[in-house]
Amino acid sequence: MSSHFKDYAVVVTGAGIGIGYKICQSFAEAEAHVALVDIDGDVAKNSAQKLNDLVGAERVTPYGVDVANPDAMREMVSDFAAKYGRLDVMIANAGITNYGDFLTYSPQVFDRVVAVNLRGTFFTAQAAANEMVSRKTENGCIVLMSSVTGVQGHKNLAAYGMTKAGIKHLASVLAIELGQYPITVNAICPGAILTERTLLDDPNFVANWEAVTPNGRVGTVEDIANTALFLSQPASRHINGQAIIIDGGWTKQSTIPEAAPDLPEESTKLR
Ligand SMILES: NC(=O)c1ccc[n+]([C@@H]2O[C@H](COP(=O)([O-])OP(=O)(O)OC[C@H]3O[C@@H](n4cnc5c(N)ncnc54)[C@H](O)[C@@H]3O)[C@@H](O)[C@H]2O)c1
Repeated sequence: MSSHFKDYAVVVTGAGIGIGYKICQSFAEAEAHVALVDIDGDVAKNSAQKLNDLVGAERVTPYGVDVANPDAMREMVSDFAAKYGRLDVMIANAGITNYGDFLTYSPQVFDRVVAVNLRGTFFTAQAAANEMVSRKTENGCIVLMSSVTGVQGHKNLAAYGMTKAGIKHLASVLAIELGQYPITVNAICPGAILTERTLLDDPNFVANWEAVTPNGRVGTVEDIANTALFLSQPASRHINGQAIIIDGGWTKQSTIPEAAPDLPEESTKLR
């Protein structure tokens, strides 16, 4: 059976490593043409080469672009769309995670986090939407990368979490604004995902997150790539403006006081 995505033109930002890289791999394996965008041009080139070797075809084109630069993003999107004569999917995945105490968080770091995560996502979506509208793309799809930190409060992640909540909201607004073309816009909110970066930050990442996740496993890049492809397929075209949490149920639990007594089996008589 031929893939839904055969000959699709797909852009994935922040894709040299981690979640974005896996999304590129999944689309390339599904016979799409993929633009692999990373701020580091060498990383983009090496990663694209690795994927082309893996799939045995020239499916992945590298672009060294900073998503915080709207002009460069617009140029990149238009160059890639012109190369294949179409643009079907934009996965606005690039984002920087930055931890810091709220009381001492600096305006310089704040501005960069907002420039990449919020402004970068906004203008990446705008560049893709303009290209899809002018090319009359049939099932245009934009997926924004939010986070569970945009759903719940998390210590030391005020600026980052705020941008991720904004990204989630952007999906709601764009669903309404772009539905007419028709382009769907949804957000993915990953929980803790095992990547090169998260393992570097915490060598015990797997055991730590397995212990607190209801289904007893850590999130993987495959979990997020599967969701991105699910949202991008034509059969998902009625899913619009949603924020989908992929965290094994982690955000569904709340802390029970350790000293709380076990509830009696029958606390209320049923009548
Ligand atoms: N890994 C997680 O646990 C997790 C959880 C929730 C949400 N997310 C979100 O998912 C996305 C990907 O996360 P990740 O952990 O795979 O990313 P990562 O930190 O490993 O970075 C992936 C790539 O993005 C590139 N990048 C950074 N800034 C860029 C910019 N301005 N323009 C273009 N490329 C840039 C980096 O060079 C890197 O190669 C991010 O938006 C992140 O906030 C990740």
